[in-house]
Amino acid sequence: MKVQPHERRITNIKLASQEDLNILRELVEMAEDAYPGIGAWWNKIKSGFKDGTRQGLLISNLSREVVGGTVIKVGASAKICSMRIVEGARRKRYGQQLWDATVDHIRKLGYSRCHFTMPGDIWVQGWFASQPGVERIGHLTPKTFRRNDIEEIVCDP
Ligand SMILES: CC(C)(COP(=O)(O)OP(=O)(O)OC[C@H]1O[C@@H](n2cnc3c(N)ncnc32)[C@H](O)[C@@H]1OP(=O)(O)O)[C@@H](O)C(=O)NCCC(=O)NCCS
Repeated sequence: MKVQPHERRITNIKLASQEDLNILRELVEMAEDAYPGIGAWWNKIKSGFKDGTRQGLLISNLSREVVGGTVIKVGASAKICSMRIVEGARRKRYGQQLWDATVDHIRKLGYSRCHFTMPGDIWVQGWFASQPGVERIGHLTPKTFRRNDIEEIVCDP
C-alpha cells in the first residue's frame, strides 16, 4: 500500500524531549550568520524546556535523521522563536510540513495567534508570506543578536 503524505507527516514530526535538546541546540546555532552570538541566547532560554515555557518540534527524514526543527515560546502569548531546515534538505517540503505542524501544535495548545520575527531578506523571499494566516505587522531595526533588519509577523492559526 502506498504511504499517504499525511501519514508520513505524523510519523516524522515529534515534540522534542529532554534527550533531543542537543540536536535542537545544533539547529538553533546554525542561525549564527543572521544572529551572531545565538549560542548565548540558547543558554539563556534552555531552562524553559524544563519548566514548560519552551517547546521544540523536530522533523526527520525517512532514515530517521533530523532535518529541521522549531523552537516555540509559550506563556501569555505564543511565539515561534526559531525555525530551520538544514541546508541539504531544503526544497523537499520538510519546511512546509514543519510549519504546518508547528502552527497546528500552537493552535492545539489553545492560542489563536502566534508571533514570529525573521530576517528581512528571508521575508522578501516570500515563503512565509505565502503561508495561510500569516501577516506582516512590523519592522525592527538591528539589535543585539541580529545582523540584519527583522520583520515581525503574526500567524493566525
Ligand atoms: C525557510 C525554510 C524553513 C523553508 O524550508 P524548505 O524545506 O526548504 O521549504 P519547502 O521545501 O517546504 O518549500 C515549500 C515551498 O515554499 C517555497 N519556498 C521554499 N523555500 C523558498 C525560498 N528560499 N525562496 C522562495 N520560495 C521558497 C517554494 O514554493 C516551495 O515549493 P517548491 O520547492 O515546490 O517550489 C528553509 O529554507 C530554512 O530553514 N531556511 C533558513 C532558516 C530560516 O530562514 N528560518 C526562518 C526564519 S528564522
